[in-house]
Amino acid sequence: MSKQAMKLINLKKTIGKKQIIKGLDFEINSGEVFGFLGPNGAGKTTTIRMMVGLMKITEGDVQILGKSIRSNYKEAVREVGAIVENPEMYPFMTGLQNLNHFARMIPGISKERIQEVIALVGLENAIRQKVGKYSLGMRQRLGIAQALLHKPSVLILDEPTNGLDPAGIREIRQYIRKLATEQNVAVIISSHLLSEIELMCDRIGIIKDGELVAIQSVNEISDTEVEKELLIHVQMEVKPPKSAIELLKSEFELDAEFESGLVRFQCPKERIPSIIQTFVQNGISVYQVEVSKARLEDKFFDLIGENSIG
Ligand SMILES: Nc1ncnc2c1ncn2[C@@H]1O[C@H](COP(=O)(O)OP(=O)(O)OP(=O)(O)O)[C@@H](O)[C@H]1O
Ligand SMILES: [Mg+2]
Repeated sequence: MSKQAMKLINLKKTIGKKQIIKGLDFEINSGEVFGFLGPNGAGKTTTIRMMVGLMKITEGDVQILGKSIRSNYKEAVREVGAIVENPEMYPFMTGLQNLNHFARMIPGISKERIQEVIALVGLENAIRQKVGKYSLGMRQRLGIAQALLHKPSVLILDEPTNGLDPAGIREIRQYIRKLATEQNVAVIISSHLLSEIELMCDRIGIIKDGELVAIQSVNEISDTEVEKELLIHVQMEVKPPKSAIELLKSEFELDAEFESGLVRFQCPKERIPSIIQTFVQNGISVYQVEVSKARLEDKFFDLIGENSIG
């Protein structure tokens, strides 16, 4: 069912001597809400600017419905709607006048389509008010309506929750989900806060220093290659615990602690069998092994480092 809507192929950006985006490879499907998560300066906006053709690609490509933004710009960009910087709206005009104004710049936008996008973002009641009187959330929705006018297959929103209060975020969340489900649009939302996008995304890709460090389904914990690299929490009942902790340090370079009768440490899941084997070979008895997967939030902090969230 789900069709590939956008594909990043070894996407790179170098500005001056600095490599800002270091080879991104991932796909986003139609009807999917994809969270593009990373701390300030990770490269989200730079990536998005390349995705929508606002910035030259140094290497690699972005394909939208199989059309290359590099070699087939006109057709590719027709499939994308985006809010990259704050949408430019005229405060002295009503929401409807703003939409009409933008619609005039795109060939073939009907009056019906304008009404349709207004309904999609739930702005029917406010559409005849001046934009200057809109709340930030309403302005954001009008921006989304504008980005949807030409029926794009992919909608890209750079930090749409910035500055919104919890109610505003909840509203955006509802419209985003509706768009993905009812219109089968692929939606890409960037954010530096997991908590703000976790609930509206199907999958989250985490970017740090221009590299994708993980892709995670929000509902199911998948066993992807990247997943294998992620740390899980391990608790072991072993005797004697002191030798176990020493072995973990000397053989595996793992820092373990002893708490409530259990040796606790974190490591990638793949290492557990060899740890147990080493214990047994060294005369340590293993009574119990318990593992718990880190919650998405723990993983995010593990991956990007707690202090780097802006
Ligand atoms: N025009 C430019 N020239 C030089 N460096 C740039 C330029 N634009 C961006 N950068 C650098 O590229 C890196 C990524 O910036 P980018 O704006 O893409 O990050 P971001 O993830 O969107 O961050 P934020 O959460 O703050 O919006 C940063 O280190 C930034 O300083
Ligand atoms: Mg940014």
